[in-house]
Amino acid sequence: MTDAPAVKLSFPEPDIALITFDDPAKGVNILSKGVMDQFASLIDSLANRTDLAGLVVSSAKPGVFIAGADIREFVAASANSKTETAATSSRGREIFQRIGQLPFPTVSIINGICLGGGAELAVWCDRQLVTSDSKTQIGFPEVKLGIFPGWGGTARVPRMVGLANAVELITGGESISGIAAVRMGLATDVVPADRMLESAISLIRAEKKSGDYLRDRERWSRPITMNPTELAFLEATATAMIQQQTKGQYPAPLAVLKLMLATSRLEITEACQREAEAIGELFGSPVSRALINVFFLTDRNKKDLGIEDRTVTPRAIKSVGVVGAGIMGSGIAAACLKRDLKVLMTDARPESLAAGVRTAIEEAAYDKAARGPTTERVLKLAPLMHEVVDEKDFGKCDLVIEAIVENEAVKREFHSRMESHLTDQATLASNTSAISIGRLAEGLKRPDRFCGIHFFNPVRRMSLVEVIRGPKTSDETVATAVAFAKGLGKNPIVVNDGPGFLVNRLLAPYMNESMSLLTTGTPIKAIDGAAKAFGLPMGPITLTDVVGLDTSLFAGRVMVEAFPDRFISSPLLEALVKAGRLGQKSGAGFFAYSNKSDRGEPDPAFDAILATFVKQPQSLDTQTVTMRLFLPMLLEATRILEEKKVRDPRDVDLGLIFGVGFPPFKGGLLFWADTIGTAKIVEMLKPFESLGARFQPTPLLLELAADRRGFYDLAKGS
Ligand code: NAI
Repeated sequence: MTDAPAVKLSFPEPDIALITFDDPAKGVNILSKGVMDQFASLIDSLANRTDLAGLVVSSAKPGVFIAGADIREFVAASANSKTETAATSSRGREIFQRIGQLPFPTVSIINGICLGGGAELAVWCDRQLVTSDSKTQIGFPEVKLGIFPGWGGTARVPRMVGLANAVELITGGESISGIAAVRMGLATDVVPADRMLESAISLIRAEKKSGDYLRDRERWSRPITMNPTELAFLEATATAMIQQQTKGQYPAPLAVLKLMLATSRLEITEACQREAEAIGELFGSPVSRALINVFFLTDRNKKDLGIEDRTVTPRAIKSVGVVGAGIMGSGIAAACLKRDLKVLMTDARPESLAAGVRTAIEEAAYDKAARGPTTERVLKLAPLMHEVVDEKDFGKCDLVIEAIVENEAVKREFHSRMESHLTDQATLASNTSAISIGRLAEGLKRPDRFCGIHFFNPVRRMSLVEVIRGPKTSDETVATAVAFAKGLGKNPIVVNDGPGFLVNRLLAPYMNESMSLLTTGTPIKAIDGAAKAFGLPMGPITLTDVVGLDTSLFAGRVMVEAFPDRFISSPLLEALVKAGRLGQKSGAGFFAYSNKSDRGEPDPAFDAILATFVKQPQSLDTQTVTMRLFLPMLLEATRILEEKKVRDPRDVDLGLIFGVGFPPFKGGLLFWADTIGTAKIVEMLKPFESLGARFQPTPLLLELAADRRGFYDLAKGS
């Protein structure tokens, strides 16, 4: 906490007060308790100023109005009880309500992100002026943390924009542009960025004259009038929509819907009190804790440089070479183009290069609203993309990423050739999903400038990137790869070289176990159903069909070779591959597919193959199936920690959430285990002991269990 104020009061004109948020200690404005106290005392200092015509609330941070409340502090302040949470919530809202009691009109001017508590502050002002800049985004993302707006947002917003609009905004958690906010009634008008203050002052003078703001203050304090049929219709449609989106796994949207429907009939102050009580009930629930953990995981990831030494600076990356224009190469090229990086691409096959270049440009130029690439974007991005015929041209690149065929000898030969073209400042990386980075570096002259940058498929959707550190990779190279991935908007985690790196190593026991469960006679539906009920987007059997049974078998073999004590190559998988059943792409795997994109139907031909592997059918309940899938994954994670493959246990959780779709509402694999308790996990493993080493508790787990500690106790700092 610094002494310099984060909120300042000035008077651009003698009768106009201007409050400016500009925390010198932070890059963005966050409503911490200290900031709120400063704001409250400024509001109080204005409470009796009948000489003033109005107040403008603004931010001096470029691109940001206020990014929200200080979550860390809110968690700490609310940790102990429901009443404490309710009190924290009421305190904040009472400060905001005082804006609406000032004896003159108040206007917030918003040019940038305006979220959560920041959006609540903005709407408690009488009027809001916004810009049409794409950075101007107003929203209430609280449901993404398993809570809802707690500073009066659930009461104020429906009174301004109507209950149906407010329900959509607050239960969905998505933000809207300045223009959309004006259309909805959440903001008053769009004004040019360089004339915000002037416009606000004119508006104040007009409001003061007309007195409209006083009428709105009165109107927005009353209950909302809606007839019972409309209300019932809204409740039914919103409930159905939320249930479809949350699958019953995220309670906050339904809770806030119920609250808003009930409090719409009350005076605003009573509605606000009910909001504070309701947030007290929801905050600290397992789902809210888990989602807040995910927020902390991503927040920590944003600040992580990938190395401990803060004096090392990443090398600048302005041009990227991509070798291999296939699925991954074109995806990586598109990601670079989207961030206006110059891309040079090549492929051994000219037709693949042409197709890859086209795919990359089209993907990068994709416009959501137009549902396709726009000519304007294509014309802007195409000049950044260069087809390379002579490999020497890569000599100008700051970074070259190899995404060619997954063959060690071919990759090694390529790397040593490419290295000879590169400058001393360049970084060379491989997108390999399974080959050891240490081995690939063996033939290189500068192994310190080589690392893995492992993107996931499809690159446009998967935000995880594993930066693989080989034994000789330098800190500078790791920091460069991490900074590059962040520049693409990804979440990079640094993983020390080893079989399966992080995500594939953790997936392997889970996928392996699903094969093993099939041979106990457990139906596909029960296995996939258990994984989905746990929260995974797709069950392991369906996932194998999507990934390809041959790819899965190959990945499994790498693990069998590396860890023969606990991995076995699935004979069932081998038989299916031998029978040509490679999954969706071949028309048949565990299911039969009539075309490559359909959902797959049960297939008697698969049942016949499976039958030869089911020796003693067992009837396993859902809990047993679930634990058989996830406990081996957890144990593998403990081995990853033992071997120090990642620098922090939280990297495991982030990797699984962003790389596999591990359910955010469980907070991550290790977070989930901690909520159960390590000692209890040891107990839960006991019934599975007879299944072999893959269910044996590891030394780390036993040690933590004996000390009654959790995995997050191994985390460094906050
Ligand atoms: P792909 O088969 O779609 O593309 C590979 C491209 O490289 C082809 O166009 C091929 O013509 C070209 N190529 C092969 N040898 C070459 C050489 N010596 N010089 C120049 N071009 C050459 O393969 P995909 O799926 O894009 O995979 C590429 C790499 O990314 C592999 O190492 C793979 O393990 C890895 N990876 C793949 C993922 C996936 O889901 N497909 C996920 C993550 C990593």
